[in-house]
Formats: sequence, C-alpha cells, structure tokens
Amino acid sequence: MPTCRICQSQFEPFISFGKMPIANGFLAPEQFDREYFFELAVGFCPTCAMVQLVDQPNKEQMFHEHYAFYSSMSRHMAEHFKRVALNIMPRYFASNDPFVVEIGSNDGVLLEHCVQRGVRHVGVEPAANVAKVAQEKGVETIVEFFDEELAGRIRSEHGQADVVFSANTMLQFSYMRSVLSGIASLLKPSGVLIFEDPYLGDIIEKTSYDQMYDEHLFYFSVASVDAMVRRHGMAVIDVESLPVHGGSMRYVVAHEGALSVSSAVAAQRAKEEQLGLRDLTTYEHLRKRIEQSRNDLVTLLSRFHDEGKRVVGYGATSKSTTILNYCNIGPDLIEFISDITPIKQGKFSPGMHIPVRSYEEFIAHYPDYALLFAWNHAREIMAKENNFHRAGGRWIVHVPKVGVLAHDFVR
Ligand code: TYD
Repeated sequence: MPTCRICQSQFEPFISFGKMPIANGFLAPEQFDREYFFELAVGFCPTCAMVQLVDQPNKEQMFHEHYAFYSSMSRHMAEHFKRVALNIMPRYFASNDPFVVEIGSNDGVLLEHCVQRGVRHVGVEPAANVAKVAQEKGVETIVEFFDEELAGRIRSEHGQADVVFSANTMLQFSYMRSVLSGIASLLKPSGVLIFEDPYLGDIIEKTSYDQMYDEHLFYFSVASVDAMVRRHGMAVIDVESLPVHGGSMRYVVAHEGALSVSSAVAAQRAKEEQLGLRDLTTYEHLRKRIEQSRNDLVTLLSRFHDEGKRVVGYGATSKSTTILNYCNIGPDLIEFISDITPIKQGKFSPGMHIPVRSYEEFIAHYPDYALLFAWNHAREIMAKENNFHRAGGRWIVHVPKVGVLAHDFVR
C-alpha cells in the first residue's frame, strides 16, 4: 500500500487511470518512440484527509527548458494575478518596504506588478524558458526548485518575507516537508503564505477528473491543508473560493496564533463535512461518475464520427491529456486541437498524438463541434467565439456532465 506523503499513514487508491504520459508533454513525431509513461492513480488518506497521486514522475520530467505553459497566455488569468498583486498581498505588508517571494513565478505575470511599484521581490521558477520571459520584464528570478535550502539562501540575502505567494504550484511538491519548513523560516512573525490551487470540493462536485495528472500531486481541502501546515507551526487563517482553474481555493496561512482566524475557515470546513470529503464512500462515488463520464464522451464522439461531423478540440490543456488517454480518444475522433500557445502548435498531444494547430486554422474552417478542453476559460472563450456560433458551431463539454451546449447558451 502507498504511504501518505504528509502523515506517513498507508492509504489505498480509489481510482486508476492506467498508463499516462506527461500531461504538458506536447511532442514532435521524432519523440514518439521515447515518450515517457507512468501509472496514474489517486487515493485518499483517511488519517490526514489528503487526496494525492500514488506515483509521480520525476520533477525533471515535468519542468524543464521546454516547459509549455505560459501563465500570461490567458488575459483573464493575467487580470486575476494583477488583482492579487495590487489588492490582496498589500493587506499583509508589515512595513513600507515589504518583501515578496513567489514560488512558481512562471513568466512573471504577478511579479511584474511588483516591478512596476518598486516592491522588493524574488521569483522562483525552475522552467528556464518561462523564467527568461520574467527576467526580460525585470522580475528578479531564481531558476531553481524551491526547497528549504533555497529558502535559507533567500532569507540570508533579502531578509524575511511579508508574503510568500504561490499559484498552482504548492499542489506539485513531493518534498512538501522541505517546502513548508522553508516557508515557515522565510516568513516574518506576521508574514503570510498565500496560495491558490484547484479545490477538491469542486473536483468532486463537477466530476472534473481532468484535474488529475502528473503535476497535480495533491488535491487540497481546507481540512487537509490545515492539518498539513500545522505540522510546521502554521495554521490556515483565511480562505476564499475562486472561479479560476475550474474552481480553486485561496488559502492564507500564518504562524500559529500570530494572526486572527477568519470565520470563513470554519464555514468552509463545515461545507466540507457536508460534502463528505473525509468519507471513503465519497471517493467511490466519484470513481463511478468518472467511469460514466468516460462512457458518455466516447459514445458521443463515436456518434459524431459515424455521422461524418468534424470535431476539433479547443485548448491543448494539460487537463485534456487525462481525458484523451483515459478515454482512448485519438485523431480518428478529434481532427486537431486548436491552441493559441506558439510552443504547442505543430506538436502532438501527449500519448494520443492528436495534432495541435494554431487558432487561425480553427477560424479558417470552423468544425461542426468544438470540444472545450479549456473549460476553465469558458467565459473568456465563449465571449470571443461569436463567429463560430454564427457559423452553426456547437460546443461539446465534459464538465460537469458530458453534453452539447444548447445554441442559445452563449447568447
Ligand atoms: P490552462 O487553463 O492552463 O489549463 P491546463 O492547466 O490544464 O493546461 O490552459 C489553457 C490552454 O488553452 C492554453 O494552452 C491556452 C489555450 N487557450 C486557447 O487556445 N484559447 C483561449 O482563448 C484560451 C483562454 C486558452
């Protein structure tokens, strides 16, 4: 039986997806025969309530100089991070010379606002290609993996931090003990760790199993995060649900007893009890809904194939890798995936090898159906796709249920 990475108890997987490639590993044909696969399975630790992957590939397999994810690609996300930089973080600045550290600073989409306002900062980003974009914006970036040792170096060079921020990164750390010890020593006595990650409650409510892939090692809840940070003398003092990434939670964590705890924490924990996040049966039900979702999607796409309809994927997301490989959906059912990210274009999707093409190819010859893999950006995408709708194009969605959206949905 696997061992929980947080409390070292044993736990059992509740779902196995079989062999999976690296979710963000878009590749060229000459790399097909060297493609890396691992067993994707997810389990729930009944002792500390942490939901987690059973196995995870080496971090060097996932984050490297060709890492194909640029945070600034979504205008909506860029605005989200601007709000965090200008409205959320300053609430916790203890002096007029604050210091901010971001873990997983990507292309500097958040810290560029610190640059503009002269706020002292350091970004930590191991993917050299995206880090370079941040450095070109003037964002001070260390191209390394964050751990306790690096936290010590940052502290001795810059002093302690008012805010350590991290978005969609904390959930990736297999060496969480080192990361949290590092953060605890890096924070000022009144400093806070603010982090945002996809929320377990949303995954369960929406059956959004496409959140389950190599980079997402943990599926956090308020209960499991609080138990985790308390091992390092810290506590969750505030939480806020966020609509981003298909449903996320923002956690504010401080040294235990240093800052008052908002009533939102107890309220969210009560909701988690109601949702049954600590009950094994909740996860068994989730597995059944996932299996149903796979059957429904394959049936729908096979029908469109038999009817001679053209189906194109919209957004070559990491999430889509789990869907496509688990459902065994290849280029016979999906002609290509349209994506605005230049580094993904001309490549092929991990595992199933569906071509990824430019957005221009999507608009040049609209398909009958677009399967919305980037469903977490649905609002932004629907707002700009009027011509697709006018041409008679329809959206296939798989979250929260597989189906075709009604024509008037977007009007
Ligand atoms: P993202 O939301 O980061 O999902 P994941 O974490 O699962 O990779 O990825 C969104 C992808 O969709 C990204 O490759 C950019 C693409 N995209 C478009 O092609 N068009 C759009 O209008 C938007 C918003 C995103």
